[in-house]
Amino acid sequence: MVATVQENPLRKGMQLHRTPEPCAMIIMGATGDLAHRKLIPSLYNLEVDHLLPHGFAVVGFARANDGGDVAFREDMCAAVDQYSRYAPVAGEVWDSFAEGLFFQPAEFDDIESYRKLAETLRRVDVERGTQGNHVFYLAVPPTAVATISKMLGAVGLVTKHANGERWTRIVIEKPFGRDLQGARALNSQLLKVFHEEQIYRIDHYLGKETVQNILVFRFANGLFEPIWNRRYVDNVQITVAEEIGIAHRGGYYETAGALRDMVQSHMLQLLSLTAMDPPVALDADAVRDEKVKVLRAIEKYSPHDVDRNAVRGQYAPGWVGGREVRGYRQEEGMDPESTTETYAAMKLYVDSWRWAGVPFFLRHGKRLPKRETEIAITFKRAPLALFQDADSDAMGPNVLAMRIQPDEGMSLRIMAKIPGQGIQIQPVHMDFLYGAAFSQQSPDAYERLLLDIMLGDSTLFTRRDEVEAQWTIVDPILRAWEQDPPPDFPNYEAGAWGPRAAIDLVQRDKCYWRQV
Ligand code: BG6
Repeated sequence: MVATVQENPLRKGMQLHRTPEPCAMIIMGATGDLAHRKLIPSLYNLEVDHLLPHGFAVVGFARANDGGDVAFREDMCAAVDQYSRYAPVAGEVWDSFAEGLFFQPAEFDDIESYRKLAETLRRVDVERGTQGNHVFYLAVPPTAVATISKMLGAVGLVTKHANGERWTRIVIEKPFGRDLQGARALNSQLLKVFHEEQIYRIDHYLGKETVQNILVFRFANGLFEPIWNRRYVDNVQITVAEEIGIAHRGGYYETAGALRDMVQSHMLQLLSLTAMDPPVALDADAVRDEKVKVLRAIEKYSPHDVDRNAVRGQYAPGWVGGREVRGYRQEEGMDPESTTETYAAMKLYVDSWRWAGVPFFLRHGKRLPKRETEIAITFKRAPLALFQDADSDAMGPNVLAMRIQPDEGMSLRIMAKIPGQGIQIQPVHMDFLYGAAFSQQSPDAYERLLLDIMLGDSTLFTRRDEVEAQWTIVDPILRAWEQDPPPDFPNYEAGAWGPRAAIDLVQRDKCYWRQV
């Protein structure tokens, strides 16, 4: 019945079926977007796959909802129908899942709400056999996190343990703080109530199959590791391009911007998985120790360096996917003078023996021509120009592209001779496509992560020192940008690949952004 960290599927080829101990998941902010789009549909998918524990319940804790459990169940049924990969909802499975859904109206800053929650949980623990094990999932704005954790502690809802008999865990969504100082303060507040092992800082990119595959690809194949360093690698490019704008999330996005929203979390995670040394074991601390080493080795910019090494942008009206779209400043409710960046690109160096001198280029933007997340390793060219007569443009470097989404897979660009007389050379691609190699559907990132939380496996979650190291990298850029408002926003059309300055950024190192 009890699964432990020893059963981490990274260690066993991700084939294991693991079942967690009985527990209740309390979703704070259960009427919000995340609960509808991701959390409840993912829990339902786990139920369909028989991966939930035999004693399980969800308690929604949020402001709205006058109709109690019944209205909550109906609302969640509609959400599952819309967002689950197993939609439409299957009658029998849904009925048994829905019996375990409860709702507790709440004001996050009112202690009385937490006392009532404690009562509800006592009842649910008996009725549903959840044995006093509780996961508090904070799907709330970052400003509410400290208050909620204090209140939970004050009403005695936090046990001493992350594992063992009767445990409590807390899950915090990104962004974790607004800057380094804020993240440190939040960590100290949380650590007054919880132990580090009880805190799960979520970064949903780590739950994606293809992101986990970076480690498998690097450390389960002997072929690549010997050349994964400064002697053979010329540069690394990490692209997270999105077609979407900010949709209905303007309120949040305006206070965040591209750097906080994507670079500080998801993109630095992709970088650290790409650049880390092999861990001594595949357990939570060994993996995170190596990632932290990379993050700490990244050169920190002074405000003066920021201008030369980082570029920001904001989209103007334009065309994406054959559709005319508004500019950022024209989005609903947006400040017509907004200086929030929707695009960020930068060059970073990892000052380690493995990577000294190799530029890591990162770019992310909203309203770019297509959705594409990719990590591309460009290798150094062959040392001798043996094929002098061949077209030198065609003779590009070898590039290994790890495509995170969509069209998940890998592609290796190599040079080949065009059939015929004489020697003519052309780049060709060796491709591996997930869809073609494996017939089964990948679970959503949240399914994997929710299951890991229930199992008590924090390998795919960000540790305290890790999140602070991430902020240490972006903090000087944030500060420089705040002090020096952008003179040229909006500076790229929706549907273009970002501002001109981003091209200059890579060209200074005689590099080009890949055409993904
Ligand atoms: C979220 C960001 O963390 O990740 C969003 O807040 C972004 O702005 C999203 O769109 C991208 O996630 P995915 O899984 O669609 O690549």
